[in-house]
Amino acid sequence: MALANRKILLIIAGGIAAFKSLDLIRRLREQGASVTPVLTRAAEEFVTPLSASALAAQKVYRDLFDLTDEAEMGHIELSRAADLVVVAPATADLMAKMAGGHANDLASTLLMATDKRVLIAPAMNVRMWTHPATQRNLATLRGDGVLVVGPDDGEMACGEFGPGRMAEVPDIVAAIDAALGHGPLTGRRVIVTSGPTHEPIDPVRYIANRSSGAQGTALAAALRDLGAEVVFVTGPATVPPPAGVQVVAVETAMQMQDAVTSALPADAAIFAAAVADWRMDKAHGSKLKKSRDGLPVLDFAENPDILAGVAQMKAGRPRLVVGFAAETDDVARHATEKRARKGCDWIVANDVSPETGIMGGTENAVMLITEDGAETWPRLPKAQVATRLAARIADALAQRGA
Ligand code: CTP
Repeated sequence: MALANRKILLIIAGGIAAFKSLDLIRRLREQGASVTPVLTRAAEEFVTPLSASALAAQKVYRDLFDLTDEAEMGHIELSRAADLVVVAPATADLMAKMAGGHANDLASTLLMATDKRVLIAPAMNVRMWTHPATQRNLATLRGDGVLVVGPDDGEMACGEFGPGRMAEVPDIVAAIDAALGHGPLTGRRVIVTSGPTHEPIDPVRYIANRSSGAQGTALAAALRDLGAEVVFVTGPATVPPPAGVQVVAVETAMQMQDAVTSALPADAAIFAAAVADWRMDKAHGSKLKKSRDGLPVLDFAENPDILAGVAQMKAGRPRLVVGFAAETDDVARHATEKRARKGCDWIVANDVSPETGIMGGTENAVMLITEDGAETWPRLPKAQVATRLAARIADALAQRGA
């Protein structure tokens, strides 16, 4: 039994999907886990404490100010006795509380007090899910290292269609399995580069590009969620790095190359950074003055191609080397040529023409170039592109052997 002796604290929030949580309790127990249910007040409108308790064969915790419970097991202890805290369904309201750090009922207090990983299975109306506030809270929670499963697309209880339906129970069980260290990338080391690089002209000026680091950050988080040990080599990005990864912050292409070299060996290396192709041949040691120096003449030197260097390593090459390509025209052809020229296994290509809004935006439309040709993916939020890509990386590493 995959989850034998694992202890799950299951917080059930108030949504129509709460009925599926009863099935979740049953499936988790079938796998050998013990489940301690916590019901928010709103959840009790959808499922009864008695049914949760009967299925879990455990006491159900219901209210922060239940003095008897506090005497039996305080909320701090309750939040730490588990191996994993699961919130299913996670409503928009509970996600907002979590993102804001509220602790005004038992569920939110447990989530604040826990020292364990937290996995949420969001479920809500499609408009509530796509609302900027929920998406902002989701990004905050991911940044805090909270794991997320779903939501799925589909017909909702309210009659609307779209993302917002709670993930199916077997998918939640699989995510719990992965969170508890049984993920397909457990024991794998993956290097991810991300963000732009800054190439100094003088102590106050630099050459940069518009990369936000969003796609690389989302990918690092998705790989972490599958159990990988992630070394995240990041230039000065505008989005914060994910929790639960080893962050190596760099500024220039040369520093990024050093950081990647030091992080080797690895099972896979993913180059999502927008590395500057050129640096100043000699950065000025003091600030250029317009009165004294006139119009500056900038002499460039070419930066090392970090991706090509790793892809073409004679010994100790990671088994999977993935590059990104930002193109503005004829994406498939350019990216296919780039794959061959650099010697990497895959290229994740995207069209960064200004009208796509992809560079610095929240969505990505990707073409994946592998040895088998080009696959066009639908336009998706960067987090979903990351989840798909991480799953493909896990499959590829499994196929390529230990
Ligand atoms: N890359 C890198 N080191 C560099 C430049 C790029 O590791 N000095 C990696 C990026 O992280 C990305 C891929 O190479 O994975 C992007 O290549 P790109 O810069 O588009 O390739 P170029 O050969 O510079 O192509 P182009 O002619 O389009 O500029």
